[in-house]
Formats: sequence, C-alpha cells, structure tokens
Amino acid sequence: MSQIQNEMKKRRTFAIISHPDAGKTTMTEKMLLFGNLIRSAGTVKGKKSGKFATSDWMEIEKQRGISVTSSVMNFPYKDYQVNILDTPGHEDFSEDTYRTLTAVDSVVMVIDGTKGIEAQTLKLFKVCKMRGIPIFTFINKMDREGREPLELMEEIEETLNIETYPMTWPAGMGKRFLGVFDRENEQFVHYTGNEEEEYIPYSELDQHPELTENATFQESEEEMEMVAEAGDTFDMEKVMRGDQTPVFFGSALAPFGVETFFNSFIDMAPEPAPRKSTEGIVSPDHEEFSGFIFKIQANMNPQHRDRIAFVRICSGKFERGMNVTLSRTGKTFKLAQSQQFVASSRGTVEEGYAGDIIGIYDPNVYRIGDTIVTGKSNFEYDELPQFPPELFKKVTAKNVMKSKQFRKGLEQLVQEGAIQLFKRYRFEDYIIGAVGELQYEVFEYRMKNEYNVDIELTPLGERIPRWLKEDQVDESLFDERNMLAEDREGNPLVLFKNDFSLRWFKDKNPDIELTDLFEVN
Ligand code: G4P
Repeated sequence: MSQIQNEMKKRRTFAIISHPDAGKTTMTEKMLLFGNLIRSAGTVKGKKSGKFATSDWMEIEKQRGISVTSSVMNFPYKDYQVNILDTPGHEDFSEDTYRTLTAVDSVVMVIDGTKGIEAQTLKLFKVCKMRGIPIFTFINKMDREGREPLELMEEIEETLNIETYPMTWPAGMGKRFLGVFDRENEQFVHYTGNEEEEYIPYSELDQHPELTENATFQESEEEMEMVAEAGDTFDMEKVMRGDQTPVFFGSALAPFGVETFFNSFIDMAPEPAPRKSTEGIVSPDHEEFSGFIFKIQANMNPQHRDRIAFVRICSGKFERGMNVTLSRTGKTFKLAQSQQFVASSRGTVEEGYAGDIIGIYDPNVYRIGDTIVTGKSNFEYDELPQFPPELFKKVTAKNVMKSKQFRKGLEQLVQEGAIQLFKRYRFEDYIIGAVGELQYEVFEYRMKNEYNVDIELTPLGERIPRWLKEDQVDESLFDERNMLAEDREGNPLVLFKNDFSLRWFKDKNPDIELTDLFEVN
C-alpha cells in the first residue's frame, strides 16, 4: 500500500449534528478525552457569550488550551486519525453550517432522548440525506426519564424516512437505567454510576441475578428480542448510502455508552470516498493533491483582517509550501507559510491527506466551492449546493451617494457565498436571504468595514421560497404577503409568508407548479 493510501484509509472525518442542548458539546468533550486531547472532562460553560458567539469549540479551546479551532478538531485514536468538524448552531446557524456537511464523510446525529427529533436536527439531516452521507445516531440523556426507545425509533423512521438498526438497546432509563445491551459484541454494558463501564458477556449474565431478576432488565430484554425479530436487519451497504442508521443509546454526561458508541462508530464509519469532478471520479489515493474550499472566514477582528479559506483535501498529499493551481482561473499559487490546520493555536501543518481539513490564507482570490489541484489537469469538484434561505430582508444603502460601493460590496459578498441575493420582481429592490440571523450581522459589519457602506435592513420575516415556471408568472396573484421575486439568475420565485399562505395558494391555484429546490426525494 502506498503511503498516501495508508494515510487516507486512517481518516475518519465527520460532523456532529443535533439541536441546541441535545448534548453535542458534552459528547465532543468525551471524544476529546478518548483522543487524550484533554485530561479531565468538565462542562463547557459560557458558550453563549459574545455577540458573534463563536462556536462552542472556541470555548472548549479557551478553557482547555488545546489545539481546537473554531471549526475543526483532529486527533489520533487507535489506528485512526479523527477529524471532527463543527456545525455551528444557536445564533451561529448559517449556510456555513450546511456547507460543512459537504466536507465530511459521515455524520453523528445526537438526539435528546427526552425530546426526540427537533427542528435543527431535521434541517441538517435533510442535507445529509440529500447527499447520501452515512448517519450514525446517538440517543442521549438516558440517565433522565425520557421517551420510550421504541417510540423514538419509530419517530426517526417516520420523520426522517430512514431505517434504524439499534446497535445497543437500553435497559430502563432515568433512575431505573441499568445499561445497554451491546448487540454487536454480545455483552451487557452495565451502568454502575461510576465512570468505569462494566462489560458482562451474555454468557456470564447468569452470574448477575441482580440484573437478570430485575423487572426492568427482563422487560428490556424482551423488547430487544422483539426488535431483533421484527426490525430491519443490519445492512452495511444501506448504512453507507444513508438509508439505514445504526442507533446507540447512552448518556454523554454520565458518561455512559459513549465509548461503546465511539469504538463501533470509528470502525464502521467510512474512509474518504472518491468524489465527482469535471473530469470524472477522483480517487482519494490519487497521487496528485486536490481539495475544495467549503468555507471562507473573514476575520471579524479588525486587527486581523486576514481571511481563511477552509480546504477539504480530497486526494493526494498536501505538503507545506507546495504549488497549487486554482482550477477556476488556472492561476498557480505557492501555499507558502500560509497553511495550517485551522487551529487557533495556529500550529502549522506540514502534511495532510484526503479527509483532512486545512486552513489557508486567502488573499481575496478564493470563492466557496473552488477547487485547488496540483498536476496537469485543472478539474473542478462538483459545485456546492445552494441552501434555501429562510429569513429575508430588504437591503438599501443609507446614503444614496454610496450606491456604487453598495452594489460592489453586495456583489462580492454574494459571490463569496456570505448571503443570497434576490430582487423584487420587476423592481430594483434588493432582497437578501439567509438561513440564520448571524449572516446578516456579518454582512452588515463587512459592508461597513470593507466597503464603507452603512446599510439599512428591513425584515420581511421568515418566508418560504418556492420557484415557479416563467410562463406561469401571473403578477395579479401576488402581493406583499406572497411576494413575487427573482433569484440571481432571473428565475421567478414566490416568497410565501407562511405555511398557511402556501397551502392556501396551492389550493386556489392547483395548476401552478411550485418547486421547492430543497425537496428531499
Ligand atoms: P449542545 O452542545 O448540543 O447545545 O448541548 P450541551 O452539550 O451543551 O448540553 C446541553 C445541556 O444538556 C447541558 O446542561 C448538559 O450538561 C446537558 N446534558 C448533556 N448530555 C446529557 C446527558 O446525557 N444527560 C443529562 N442529564 N444531561 C445532559 P446545562 O444545564 O445547559 O448545562 P450544565 O449546567 O449542566 O453545565
């Protein structure tokens, strides 16, 4: 096996998706413990402070002084090299959150067992499903009275339209929580209340009457047998396509079941896969280096005006100081002292392989979705998808004399993927769309600081965008409530006020075909 192949096969690059408060931070911290990145676990606090509430990771970093970044953490575990990408939630939720999912090979979905599937998980899940990313589920907070495991499995299957396969099965919950049956390793993982988990092989359970004679244990065992008989069979191919999710139960806080989960997950999770490009499929062990930019971060600190482009390596070997070509322009750059893992310890990375994420300084030449390559062929990876904005605001320059800079800034920031641009149909009113409030704050700040334009934003509220066919545009049907607009390419769409208006419109106008560009099939 070549060195490139050998290194690539060790990579496990994933993101954790969840709804705020489901336990992502707690879970991440436990994973860092496995990687020996931190010595003792503790709850990460104060993460909601600061206007541009950076992500939880920054907090972990500040508190622990470890090599974490606002975006990526990497550490060796067993024979693997683990890369965990942050998916900012809360007020940080933005298109970047979605785009991060284009740079991972699998996803861990953390669900709060007392709540089930919540809005943000659903949104992120849809993107994973659309892209066929394998999804592993951890049902958290089993130390609390929550919902019945069978009910949760049913909800996942129905709401998310994915098969479930319980890898572990819980015995009780809350105060009655005894542990989980580990089906793969045929052992009972006993929750003792200590950090140490006790593993009892099924064959030795008869020596533990305190369990086998416990009614909760017996009930759960029966339930598990029922699930084994009536449920789906484990199918690795389905898992790899994102059609089946292996499910684990535990408590990130206790912690319990996290290690069992992580060990199974890391063995099952896929290594970097081949990716589609304009010149066909590129294998991750291809000897030429290639990667794509999935995020550009402008530094919000005026003292550091640098921008950093985040590159997901897709093939070959990255070496510091190497020359790369930006496929879009054909220009070659030397990645001089610029490369680093996006660790804010600013540690410089010397080499990287498919699956790794590197941060490179961006002298204002890169765009989101750009491909960089070495070698003779300047291929480009598939374009990154656009994600449907949910919030819309009208934008104008406060000072009309500044309209030239205003348009320039608007154009550039839209091109960079910071925000999406629409226009009111037949008007010159600019409307900008975003998936999270943070995008507007960043936009406003950058318009002022980089283009010297004060802007005025008028909220149009949350809207539901639906595209329509050019020949079905009938202006008399629309008004401020259900606003007719056009996207950057001039395609007509309607910004519906809410779900009710959308349904009402559909009922009244069954012939008008409305397309949700984001529909998951
Ligand atoms: P997030 O990153 O997904 O937003 O969630 P985070 O890990 O911050 O967890 C949210 C809250 O849920 C925290 O409580 C955390 O301690 C708690 N939590 C996480 N995992 C578990 C679990 O397995 N069991 C129980 N019972 N609680 C869990 P908090 O009150 O916001 O903070 P703190 O006061 O506990 O620090």
